[in-house]
Amino acid sequence: MESITHENRKFAPLAAFSENAHINSMESYTTLYQKSIDDPEAFWAEAATDLHWFKKWDTVLDASEAPFYKWFDGSRTNLSYNCLDRHINEGRGEKIAIHWEGEPGDVRTISYAELHEEVCRLANAMKSKGVQKGDRIGIYLPMIPELAVSVLACARIGAVHSVIFAGFSADAIRDRVLDSETRMVITADGGYRRGKILELKKIVDEGIEDCPCIKDVIVVQRGDAHPIDCPMKDERDCWYHEEVAAMSEVCPAEEMEAEDLLFLLYTSGTTGKPKGVMHTTAGYQVFSYLTSKYVFDLKPDDVYWCTADVGWITGHTYIIYGIMQNCATQVMYEGAPNHPDEGRFWEIIEKYKVSIFYTAPTAIRAFMKWGDKWLVDRDLSSLRLLGTVGEPINPEAWIWYHKMIGGERCPIVDTWWQTETGGHMLTPMPGATPTKPGCATLPFFGIDTAILTDDGEEVDVGILAIKQPWPGMLRGIYGDPQRFKEAYWCKWGGQYYFPGDGARRDEDGYIWITGRVDDVVNVSGHRIGTAELESVFVEHPDVAESAVVGVPHEIKGQGLIAFVTVIDGRDYDDHLRKELVTMIDKSIGKFARPERILFSSDLPKTRSGKIMRRILRDIAEGKELGNTTTLADPSVVEALQAQYIAMSQ
Ligand code: PRX
Repeated sequence: MESITHENRKFAPLAAFSENAHINSMESYTTLYQKSIDDPEAFWAEAATDLHWFKKWDTVLDASEAPFYKWFDGSRTNLSYNCLDRHINEGRGEKIAIHWEGEPGDVRTISYAELHEEVCRLANAMKSKGVQKGDRIGIYLPMIPELAVSVLACARIGAVHSVIFAGFSADAIRDRVLDSETRMVITADGGYRRGKILELKKIVDEGIEDCPCIKDVIVVQRGDAHPIDCPMKDERDCWYHEEVAAMSEVCPAEEMEAEDLLFLLYTSGTTGKPKGVMHTTAGYQVFSYLTSKYVFDLKPDDVYWCTADVGWITGHTYIIYGIMQNCATQVMYEGAPNHPDEGRFWEIIEKYKVSIFYTAPTAIRAFMKWGDKWLVDRDLSSLRLLGTVGEPINPEAWIWYHKMIGGERCPIVDTWWQTETGGHMLTPMPGATPTKPGCATLPFFGIDTAILTDDGEEVDVGILAIKQPWPGMLRGIYGDPQRFKEAYWCKWGGQYYFPGDGARRDEDGYIWITGRVDDVVNVSGHRIGTAELESVFVEHPDVAESAVVGVPHEIKGQGLIAFVTVIDGRDYDDHLRKELVTMIDKSIGKFARPERILFSSDLPKTRSGKIMRRILRDIAEGKELGNTTTLADPSVVEALQAQYIAMSQ
């Protein structure tokens, strides 16, 4: 019952916060929002004037080839310039850009001027190896400053970065490298996670073994104090520190065209193959800048900390581009929240006097489980704003966050967005919007939403749709324009962007995200396509068929349950189960492991042979089964249910 009362509560921002906020009342939000919808071009043009342009745009929005929209066409600019040089030119070079803390406790403090210097050196090193504008660069690094440096060095010279989260396996690296014909990989000998060393270079070596497109591998020595075993291949591999030391710290930023590709980021969809989401220069620049400024209410004295990894879109936009364009000081932490103990995050907040903290609901639920004792004697009074991202937050977790971390004085921005949207789409304005636990509330400026039925009728409970283009939107799927159109723009006849989420509008006009409406599952805020796992399982010679579903999970938000049928006459036991888990580790990464694998002789299907996932979900949630009359063979379900119950005991 508690969640119902929580959901209905409203929390207005405290006057002390609103007074100094960029957007300080609902009236100013509504006025500006209306302006942004009535005349989006004027709105975005004005936002863009805060930034540096080598050449101003001719048009703000060109929709002539929709859905291949163009923003700020005719302009020339550079993201790295706007993140670094602009601040230095305006006298802010000495400001701290990054307070970095490694998991073992080593620390580094880097000013914007120092970051600029390092970025220029690496950019020159890349150029000296023949990297040119448009070349794709894979980045497979732990959360160390060189990750930010690598991203910004690519942007500086117009190379396209493709960051691969360092939890992905060698096979996943190979898929991404081959799909984008990556030319160079920047990696490290290793990184620290929960006290253990992840030998990243070895994983890269395995991944790129048969990738002739890779010409060079630059290796950061993370284990400089304690050498990490790191085989180097002659001609192909070189050490980062040796390369940058030999280079000049002067490297002019390339003048990029508005729609030049800035980065690729692979994400899961409804098919087995991850898609390379394309983000381009000028629109993403303005969108990441403005959302950061307003949603985090960034001020010169803030110390911001986003706990995401740069391997995901949250890190791209809200660690690197959006945050650095605002010249904010931030904390970057390499490791796990529970190393050496469960109080690590609170210790970091206290130590660096973090004022803005942005994390995922799955982390908040883990903190709740670990208990309040980790907060005793911790001074979190520096915090003034909290945020969440990645999945719906349950009201209980929201309330705990509000009370225990925010001391009931910090607004919480629950931000709904996606890899594809580039930045925040639904979010409270922290100094204006009254919040409700579990609700991402209202659209950001320029974002025009609708809730539709499958047929495009406007309703209060249905599927979320975005009516107008926005500058941060993806521009395509690498190498597959058709898939881009079909996945995002075809659902309602090309009129709207289809994000794949369900939504409900309440009596205040607030939008509640109800979860994915496709076969994408959100595990600990990581997006995993069920088809991706299924295509791995069926590669096993004993497996005939498989169906994977998402079910609610106390900490992870959702967990994966796999149903696997085995070829007639083959045995299935724990041995096969282990083999299948190993295959997932190898093909995707450990984070995609299912909670459970159930074997059966068949899957519940309709008479036309379609797998009934709804029934699988009911079985996996231990629910009473709904209507099973359309099943071809109802006995299959009984057998699966019995097995599920036996496994749960
Ligand atoms: O289902 C939504 C969920 O995460 C999906 C996007 O995943 P990804 O591209 O990996 O990006 C995550 C970080 C932006 C969405 O389609 N999601 C994200 N944020 C929220 C959310 N669901 C509910 N509330 C949120 N605040």
